[in-house]
Amino acid sequence: MTAAQRRALNELWPKYGVGYAPAPLNLEDLFGREAPRVLEIGFGNGDALVAQAGQNPDLDFLGIEVHEPGIGHCLLEANRQGVENLRLIQHDAVDVIRDQIPNGSLRSINLFYPDPWPKKRHHKRRLVQPEFMALVTASLEPGGCLHTVTDWPDYAEHIASVVDNNPLMVPISMPQPQRLRTRFEARGEALGHDRYEQVYQRMLNVPNAGEKEYK
Ligand SMILES: C[S@@+](CC[C@H](N)C(=O)[O-])C[C@H]1O[C@@H](n2cnc3c(N)ncnc32)[C@H](O)[C@@H]1O
Repeated sequence: MTAAQRRALNELWPKYGVGYAPAPLNLEDLFGREAPRVLEIGFGNGDALVAQAGQNPDLDFLGIEVHEPGIGHCLLEANRQGVENLRLIQHDAVDVIRDQIPNGSLRSINLFYPDPWPKKRHHKRRLVQPEFMALVTASLEPGGCLHTVTDWPDYAEHIASVVDNNPLMVPISMPQPQRLRTRFEARGEALGHDRYEQVYQRMLNVPNAGEKEYK
């Protein structure tokens, strides 16, 4: 971690940071307004997240990451660009989505280049699992979308099969919104990797389905 990132964690966290606690957040209070919300899971260094937030002032963005230097970098960029519609949580995404994100509160969830855990014996460490997909589904508003990108064909197939077993989520084809390449995307492209990009939508009009229970 650079000295500037360390300083950002101390000085900018009060402005952008949200602590983890096992209780649902009041997202309206958190952002000071009611607006459609986008969650990015594992934002890395946050360059793409900050760019998206800056380009979409009518949306509110929440980023989850565990890697401190990445969070420090993201804080520096958000502050440098004067982005106001962004909040960050430093904690495991499964806990956050299960405990802090209210049911039906998100317009979309972005999962860009999740750690692929390529070895078969490590597949169980992959973030996308049936339980994770159930939490994601419950957090989306009806009609909301999960947007995934990976450069591992095997992980793309894994995600598709997990979604296939979730009766509330359906794959859709839609024009991809303009977005900045993430750091891992640029790295994969430089290595000649293909990109597997998929959008899944939470079905409309399924009342009281897919809700998480809070402890
Ligand atoms: C391969 S990197 C991709 C980063 C970024 N999305 C990109 O495309 O450049 C995966 C990121 O997910 C984060 N991550 C992995 N598991 C996580 C979890 N359970 N909760 C939050 N972040 C996680 C890692 O710290 C890492 O920064």
